[in-house]
Order: sequence, then C-alpha cells, then structure tokens
Amino acid sequence: MPDFPSEPQAVHSPTTRHAIFIVATLNPGAAAAETVRGWCADVAALTRTVGTRSPQQNLSCVCAFGSDAWDALFGQPRPASLHPFRVFGDGARVAVSTPGDLLLHIRADSMDLCFELATLLVNGLGDAVTVVDEVHGFRYFDRRAIIGFVDGTENPEGREAVDFTVIGDEDAEFSGGSYVLVQKYLHDMAGWNALTVENQEGIIGRHKLSNVELDDDIKPASSHSALTTLEENGQEVKILRDNMPFGRPGVGEFGTYFIGYARSPAPIEQMLENMFVGRPAGNYDRLLDYSRAVTGSLFFVPSAELLESLETRAAVAQVPQEAATSSSMT
Ligand code: HEM
Repeated sequence: MPDFPSEPQAVHSPTTRHAIFIVATLNPGAAAAETVRGWCADVAALTRTVGTRSPQQNLSCVCAFGSDAWDALFGQPRPASLHPFRVFGDGARVAVSTPGDLLLHIRADSMDLCFELATLLVNGLGDAVTVVDEVHGFRYFDRRAIIGFVDGTENPEGREAVDFTVIGDEDAEFSGGSYVLVQKYLHDMAGWNALTVENQEGIIGRHKLSNVELDDDIKPASSHSALTTLEENGQEVKILRDNMPFGRPGVGEFGTYFIGYARSPAPIEQMLENMFVGRPAGNYDRLLDYSRAVTGSLFFVPSAELLESLETRAAVAQVPQEAATSSSMT
C-alpha cells in the first residue's frame, strides 16, 4: 500500500447536492502575491469555521493553483507535471484554454454553506485576485447531467480513488497533491432533445433511464464512455470526476461544469484528445456536436499540509533571489 506522508485536501469528499466553482486570476504586484500566500494558511480554518456549524452537510473546499501562478507565488521547487492547459481540437470543436491562476472547488449538501465559505474566502483574497468565472452547480435528480444521463457512475472509489488521484513517490516533494482540470460546457439542448433516446444512448454509451452500459457489440467506438476509457499495460486508468449541472433557463443557458482529478494531467489530457480529435483522429465524441467548451484550465492541488505551509515555503523559495541580490552587492 503506498505511503502518503501528506494528507490530501478534500479531493475525495463525497459527492454533494451543491458546489461552487471559482476561477480567479492573480493581480499584478508583490502585495497581491503576499496576500494570496498568507490566505493559503486560512483556507482550512475557514472551511472548519463554516462546516462545523452544520457537520451533516459535508462542506469541503479544494484550493488549487495554475502553472504561471505557481511560479509567481511560490517559485521553485514546482510540481513536476504542472503546465498551462493544453488546447485540443480545432475548428468548431476545441477544448479552449482560458485564464486561471486559482481554483476553489467548494462542495456541500446545502448552498448556504457553499455560499458562506465562498464569501469568506473571496473576501480574504480581496484585491489580490480577479474572479474570472464563478459557477453555482446543483445536483439534478438522481445524479443526472443536464443532458439527462446519470453522471459519475464509473468513478473510482475508496483505495482506488486515492491511487488514481494522489501523487506519491513519483514527485516526492509534492506527494499528497493532485492535478485538477476544469472546463465549463454549454449545451445545445434543443439539438440534443431533438435526437431520439436511442441516438443519445449511442453518443453516451449507456442506457438513459436505467444507466446500464450498452453491450460492447452495440456500443459505438465514438461513444463518450468508449473514448474516455483508457488502458495502460492492460489496466484501466481512471480519473475522479464530480461534474455539476448549472444553468439559467431564462436566458437559455444549460451547462455542465466538468471537473476531473488525477495523479497526473496525462490521463485527463488523453481523454480530451480522444474526445476532441478522436481515437483514431476523426472518430470524435458526438457529445461535442451538442456541447461547447467555453473555459479550460489546469491546476495543481497541494496536499492539505503543503497548502497550510505555503506562506513559509514562499519565503524559502525566495531565498535564492535574495541571496543572489546580496551576493551581487558584495
Ligand atoms: C460535456 C461535458 C460532459 C458530460 C455531460 C459528461 C457526461 C458523462 C456521462 C453521462 C457519463 C456516463 C456515466 C459515468 O459517469 O460513468 C460519463 C462518463 C465519463 N466521462 Fe464524461 N462528461 C462530460 C465531459 C467529460 C470530459 C471532458 C471528460 C474527460 C476529459 C470526461 C470523462 C469521463 C469518464 C472517464 C467517464 C467514464 C467512462 C467509463 O469508464 O465508462 N467526461 N460522462
């Protein structure tokens, strides 16, 4: 059994009825960076402060940093596989890359707790960041995506979920951490609803009402479930998802906020390539004929312990610069 010296953040928190996703960019200047570094040590305490008031509502928060932000805030060392979001596809079918330095993934079984914690965390960040996207997601019936299919069935659980999402010895300094990729999708619901249920089932690869997987002999190679199933050396490689529906019927907005956690960005990126480019090229995911990615960012999730200590770690990271300055003065 792998030994994880550092406790992960709440990556494996049980799925909840509500979630708030906040993506922010770091404002320029040393003062902004210092505020964010100091704030890191408050995240867990604020989550406890709000969550303790209603423990049965499973409040949790995961806080993660984008590649450029990591360099600006914490310098070296840096997580081995952290890089800017990679774009997949072209033309009408693109997994776009959009700005994102900081991600907050706040989950709870009631929206008041999510809202309260989001308010406290954003207040704490103050002028140090600009929020560029905020989505309030809700559980839709029996865990259905807004397109009507049950979402999350093939998620790994328990020990397997930890093994697929938590960094171990491969990047020992960042063990206990994870990578997380988010994308906001908007759906063409009129187009989707005009399909027969049978067509929709072929696109997803599962029966709509019962959620039973289509038999291999009828499941199309282009189905969403086929293209997102990965194998390495005969073993399936999974990611942990907690997508949430969101929307505003009044303006015709119907969306899925995709969030995927993994131990490395590679499997999530491979899935994106299979969906947007195709496996093989051209055999792409038809869900994308009815779904458009309007955001996309990749982040590193420090372990809980590392998050609490990032303020001091930043000071350590800056020592070489100071040393360089003082040595150049001698
Ligand atoms: C338009 C946005 C998306 C929607 C509405 C959606 C919905 C679904 C649904 C309904 C399923 C079948 C049930 C299950 O969860 O196992 C599924 C499976 C899955 N999806 Fe998505 N998904 C979306 C985007 C993505 C993206 C961007 C990725 C990865 C980059 C992804 C990865 C997966 C994986 C790994 C599975 C399980 C496949 C299996 O083992 O059968 N999904 N998704």
